[in-house]
Amino acid sequence: MLEWSRPWEMVLDTSEAPFWKWFTGGELNASHNCLDRHLARRGDKVAYHFVPEDEKEPLQSLTYRELYRRVNEFAVLLREFAGLRKGDRVTFHLPMTPELPISMLAAARLGVVHSEVFGGFSGQACGARIADSGSSVLVTLDGYARNGRTIDHKANADVAVETARKLGQEVRKVLVWRRYPGRDLSQAPMVEGRDYYVDELLPRFRGTQVPPEPVRSEDPLFLMYTSGTTGKPKGCQHSTGGYLAYVTGTSRYVLDLQEDDIYWCMADIGWITGHSYIVYGPLSLGATSVLYEGVPSYPDAARPWRLSESLGVTVFHTSPTAIRQLRKSLPEGPRGHNVRFRLLTTVGEPIEPEVWKWYFDVVGGGRAAITDTWWQTETGGFLCSTLPAVHPMKPGSAGPPLPGIFPVILDEDGREVPKGMGHAGNLCIRNPWPGVLQTIWGSPERYVAQYYHRYSKKPGSKDWRDWPYLTGDGAIEGADGYFRIIGRIDDVIKVAGHRLGAKELESACLTVPEVAEAAAVPLADEVKGRVPDIYVSLKPGSASSPEVVDKVRQSIVGLIGKIAAPQHVYVVEDMPKTRSGKIMRRVLAALSNGADCGDTSTLVNPEVVENIRRTVGTGASPKTGLSREAILQEVRDLD
Ligand code: PRX
Repeated sequence: MLEWSRPWEMVLDTSEAPFWKWFTGGELNASHNCLDRHLARRGDKVAYHFVPEDEKEPLQSLTYRELYRRVNEFAVLLREFAGLRKGDRVTFHLPMTPELPISMLAAARLGVVHSEVFGGFSGQACGARIADSGSSVLVTLDGYARNGRTIDHKANADVAVETARKLGQEVRKVLVWRRYPGRDLSQAPMVEGRDYYVDELLPRFRGTQVPPEPVRSEDPLFLMYTSGTTGKPKGCQHSTGGYLAYVTGTSRYVLDLQEDDIYWCMADIGWITGHSYIVYGPLSLGATSVLYEGVPSYPDAARPWRLSESLGVTVFHTSPTAIRQLRKSLPEGPRGHNVRFRLLTTVGEPIEPEVWKWYFDVVGGGRAAITDTWWQTETGGFLCSTLPAVHPMKPGSAGPPLPGIFPVILDEDGREVPKGMGHAGNLCIRNPWPGVLQTIWGSPERYVAQYYHRYSKKPGSKDWRDWPYLTGDGAIEGADGYFRIIGRIDDVIKVAGHRLGAKELESACLTVPEVAEAAAVPLADEVKGRVPDIYVSLKPGSASSPEVVDKVRQSIVGLIGKIAAPQHVYVVEDMPKTRSGKIMRRVLAALSNGADCGDTSTLVNPEVVENIRRTVGTGASPKTGLSREAILQEVRDLD
């Protein structure tokens, strides 16, 4: 399914296990595979229908030829004006407009490693990622539409550059795309000698082209930062050959993208779903995709159905949070609209069976297949899913592993939990696969510690069988070999499908001078699945006040972004602790969710539980189809 400028000699090189190298000896270019090779046959085919959030604004349809032209011009600009070369990193902080895939493909064309930071992350979060990746160029956009408002996005760039500088990384150039060339949506001033409007530079490069730079299969294509157990986000490094092969294959077999499909994935390209299944997979297959700027329920919950009808969407890909939201605001879904879905997919969080049924019956009219695709930023592409029209579907269960994926459930001692036993364990993958991350950027030790240390018994082994990959998810394998994902086992909170680290939230709280200790726990939410609840205790001499609560909230939003905004910030006199000083997050999570606290006899200060219960109240937990026990299983105590 790919064109290689040099064929590979070896499929899997395990000589530096667990640093896997796929298709070694081979050379290719991702931008060539997504663009150039389609020109002869699909030059006039639409690659992206870009749909602005404002319904009055016209649709922009970009053909493969047009996309090729724009990518080439921007690639020349990156090389000639920004001085980027093969192997350099470049950070993008771009929202959902065509400029994002254009920038990605332009970087890939030069062999430059891109690192896109989700547009909704704050300037500080972006700056920390710039510094970690060692990028000296930032590409951003002046502003964009979100829920009917115009977001001044360029303002984040100034914070990002400042944050990166404090962390020791100088940004030489900030390239600012404008949502409407020639017109400014940002109030932030342009810094002379650093900030440049892309639309003012591009005329110099009109009509120019760059030959795609052949890179080695194992050369990195991009970094994608994600949250884990520790406070610092990790830059998952994805390869060119293995990754592109994996997303192309899975886009064909799981998304079943065919020549005349109109495919709409509602995820943001700023997350791995968008990288794999809006950009690289679909473009590599020469598919036509919808790129939507805004929130799905703007201006009303029928928007996705109007849009799907008018563009003739056949394959629709979204998250349980979006499905819950659409169901809640418009239970009749697309009824009355002439939608023609043949495949509906979901990703990112467990989907409750009743939500699944609504998706199937109401959105799909009982005719469309559903695929519940389970995977992770680290895995590059889908790992478990039913194949449409091949496997029976089972609501609430992601399904069997894809071909070439061999999952296993291990208990705490590394023993296999046989299928059909009905109890959960740590979901691992026995074997490497082409889409798996190569390493954590700049932290090879952390990569091994995070994903392989737990169950690898022979540290120096070159045999892949000795390196089961730890996913960080708890799961149950049914007697039929279908995997049901329970949730994270590593202090990751999935908020509306976005992955946030409890430690990141807590670190943000601790930057508030009055705060002595902080704990972040998941609270069940009817629409978003989970939202963060924050508990803080204050330093001696500081008193609780609305200002402190506000500072905590502002600090989280400033350091991470609005997506991390807590539902509640509770100031407590003391945290529930064990004799060894561990904060019992589990007790706090039980209090937040109105669940039973369980045995509190190991606490050194059991009396605080009742005090906190009074602060929290009993009605704090909203109605939800999620089990409280499932949420508590995701929470670990804090050293
Ligand atoms: O806990 C699993 C959950 O999302 C995590 C990965 O999040 P992220 O790296 O942000 O990637 C999201 C897009 C793949 C997983 O460890 N998750 C993902 N898909 C599903 C899921 N949980 C249940 N069912 C799914 N289909």
